[in-house]
Amino acid sequence: MKILCTICARGASKGVPQKNIRNLAGKPLLAYTIEQARQWGRADRVIVSTDSPEIAAIAEKYGAEVPFMRPDYLATDSAAKLPVIQHAVSCVEQMSGVQFDYVVDLDPTSPLRSVEDIEAAFNKLLSDPDACNIYSVTRASKSPYFNMVEVDQNGYACLSKQTSRPIVRRQDAPVVYEMNASIYIFRRDALMSADSVHTNRTLLYEMPEERSVDIDTELDFKIVEMLLLNKRQKDQGSGRDLFNLQHKIAVVTGAAGLLGREMVRGLAAHGATVIAADICYDKGLKLAGLSEQGVYPVHLDITDRESIDGLIRQLDQVDIWINNAYPRTDDWMDKFEEVSFASFQKNIDMHLNSYFLCCQAVSAIMKTRRKGTIINMGSIYGLIGPSFDLYEGTDLTTPVAYAAIKGGIINLTRYLAAYLGQYNIRVNALAPGGVENHQPESFIKAYEKKTPLKRMARAEDVVGPLLFLASDASAYITGQVIVVDGGFTIV
Ligand SMILES: NC(=O)c1ccc[n+]([C@@H]2O[C@H](COP(=O)([O-])OP(=O)(O)OC[C@H]3O[C@@H](n4cnc5c(N)ncnc54)[C@H](O)[C@@H]3O)[C@@H](O)[C@H]2O)c1
Repeated sequence: MKILCTICARGASKGVPQKNIRNLAGKPLLAYTIEQARQWGRADRVIVSTDSPEIAAIAEKYGAEVPFMRPDYLATDSAAKLPVIQHAVSCVEQMSGVQFDYVVDLDPTSPLRSVEDIEAAFNKLLSDPDACNIYSVTRASKSPYFNMVEVDQNGYACLSKQTSRPIVRRQDAPVVYEMNASIYIFRRDALMSADSVHTNRTLLYEMPEERSVDIDTELDFKIVEMLLLNKRQKDQGSGRDLFNLQHKIAVVTGAAGLLGREMVRGLAAHGATVIAADICYDKGLKLAGLSEQGVYPVHLDITDRESIDGLIRQLDQVDIWINNAYPRTDDWMDKFEEVSFASFQKNIDMHLNSYFLCCQAVSAIMKTRRKGTIINMGSIYGLIGPSFDLYEGTDLTTPVAYAAIKGGIINLTRYLAAYLGQYNIRVNALAPGGVENHQPESFIKAYEKKTPLKRMARAEDVVGPLLFLASDASAYITGQVIVVDGGFTIV
């Protein structure tokens, strides 16, 4: 599915001079819409149609393309919007030789829309194969059935929409909407043959009043600025919105394990729909008590490519993928001298190589949506050598393959972050220290003594850093390793 996003911004504007590039709460008005289009992430290209070199320069600065300059005849006060969008589509298609399936037009004078509005409007059009297009509206404050009037041929006032019986209460009038000039989405062929945005198969997407102010006048400009500053203050004050995972789909591998269970609970508590994937589907997930709303247990064997592909085929959206499963052989705890080459190879294959397979498979979905975040579970033992004295007097050790696997996962993370950044996919790693889990007391004591925070990690300690990496709170962070070890590695 090929999607073109157009943003039409002409140079001359009547009500508010130079409005498209005027500074609005810290950046040019046009920048808000470009950023929303890029953040939405599903458009293959985001282009600005303009006749003004000044607007073109600002558009490019904020990450949009300006592949052509709009001809003068389409940049007049009287030029309608539809031919401008059609012209943009024709130009881009001719220049690239690529034909689009959908065209999403975002009006730069409506900066209060949210990325979720674009996604919801798009999905509404997708879910109705008969519809030609959709545009955004808001409930009208006045009703033609009740308090909107016009002058009749005798020069007297009359209601704009007459009914057989007069409507005396506003609530009894049919709901009417006003177009809020924010989002227009078309199936490409319907767009190219249309002569109006109103077809006989046009859907509406309703937005609340507070996200529907379209800047036409100086007063609108001031209202929008005030609303934007208020929202910014609220977001910064609470910080809550940044961690909101509503409408996100997260997959946790190894979900029935010690850390996986806590991850699933944390993600679900923040609004994500969580696919809890584990090889021990029946026993493990039941034991883990993962029955929260929004949690869907599935069977997954990360060492089996068919199993990974089978899960991926069922999902057309994955926003967050957490590589957390911990496959290992029965001789995992053998000391270095006893480790057979076959066992070493097998563990690398089951763990490091399977994380590679999962990253490759899920990034294909994320690429089509142009967004996503992958979190790989590393370990402090992928960053530093082990402290063998901690294990003295116990049957425990840290396996040699673990160092190679976790070191590999951490640098795989950096490679993928560098490569997948172009698709707006972030890849980061968590590197926990030892998590307390019924180890011998002497080991726990020795570990606590060596750790600045004087305790081993608890499983829930990974949840905060995980939510940070999974959410927009870390929107500009990729290729990083967050060490969750109570300070173990700094001394
Ligand atoms: N526990 C720690 O002290 C610690 C410290 C640092 C890093 N880590 C890392 O965190 C991750 C989770 O560790 P944990 O302690 O929760 O492990 P765990 O053994 O408690 O859980 C691992 C889960 O992975 C599942 N699993 C195993 N093979 C699988 C496969 N082939 N496909 C799908 N699922 C499979 C298991 O059924 C289990 O539910 C691992 O990557 C581990 O290396 C753990």
